[in-house]
Amino acid sequence: MDRGDRGPRDGPEASRPIRDAWDGATDALERAALATFNPLFYGLRSTLRFRRRGYREAPARGAPLSPTMSLWLGGDRARALAGRYDVASLHARLHLGSYALALLRLDLLDLVAARAPDLVLPHAGERLRLLDVGAKNFDSAIALERFFRARVAPASLTGIEIDAFRVYRGLHSRADVAHYYLSLLPAAAPPHRYLAGDVLEHEERYDVVTWFKPFLTSGALLRWGLPRRLLKPEALLAHVADRLLPGGRLLIVNQEEHEAEAQAELLESHGGLRWRRVDLAEAEMKVDEVAYAFVATRE
Ligand SMILES: C[S@@+](CC[C@H](N)C(=O)[O-])C[C@H]1O[C@@H](n2cnc3c(N)ncnc32)[C@H](O)[C@@H]1O
Repeated sequence: MDRGDRGPRDGPEASRPIRDAWDGATDALERAALATFNPLFYGLRSTLRFRRRGYREAPARGAPLSPTMSLWLGGDRARALAGRYDVASLHARLHLGSYALALLRLDLLDLVAARAPDLVLPHAGERLRLLDVGAKNFDSAIALERFFRARVAPASLTGIEIDAFRVYRGLHSRADVAHYYLSLLPAAAPPHRYLAGDVLEHEERYDVVTWFKPFLTSGALLRWGLPRRLLKPEALLAHVADRLLPGGRLLIVNQEEHEAEAQAELLESHGGLRWRRVDLAEAEMKVDEVAYAFVATRE
């Protein structure tokens, strides 16, 4: 089974497989179809920039959780995280899947911080500036805000997403969902933001940059609906590393072993960052699909 199939599947956007093994005639056909149609549909989405008001979540509205997720959510670890990071107060305003995802991301951040305490940077400023690259619908926003507020300092969040206008079945776009999640967070100055655009064109600098599941292979990128021309792992790493203020931290999370190996090579050849790999044992992650993290510091 694909590792990606194990993520929470009842949020506005199911976790998608990250894989790059194209074998057999069906896969070749799929690849050719995606390579042909992705530029068309991506172009259309980017031109239409679909938005619709009124996106809301509630526990009763989302799809039911998988048995594994329900078990995890009712367990000691999830309860402890909800209490420690004050997430329970948002329960009534989220689908169960989104609530579970916030806790899973907190689980990941908490485990990484335990193994790599340097993720938690010393911070002298009043408010930490945080950028999440490839934010999708910014479903990491709640976990990121809660984690950094509890561990370092309150944060002003910016999520940037190149494909912000993908439309869900309920006729809301990623951007609609992202703005809803940000509306649940305490107001910040500078304000929290969700930017629709290419991070390569973003020039601001941050104390912390997070990058969950960057594309390192054309297979994963095509299956997420993007045109192949957007696969630029080296240029992206160089530019994202440049978004860090001196002493800033970069957290990269990969989903597959082969991606983690490719990520390590990229970091090595980039050369401008002090970095370490943090492997999270599958047993520790329980139900989440990601298991490899890199914490890097800009000297
Ligand atoms: C594998 S998905 C991961 C999404 C999300 N971070 C998560 O953990 O679920 C990678 C995301 O990066 C976005 N992306 C790819 N290239 C980008 C770029 N140059 N600038 C901004 N976002 C980008 C994609 O559209 C996609 O939403």
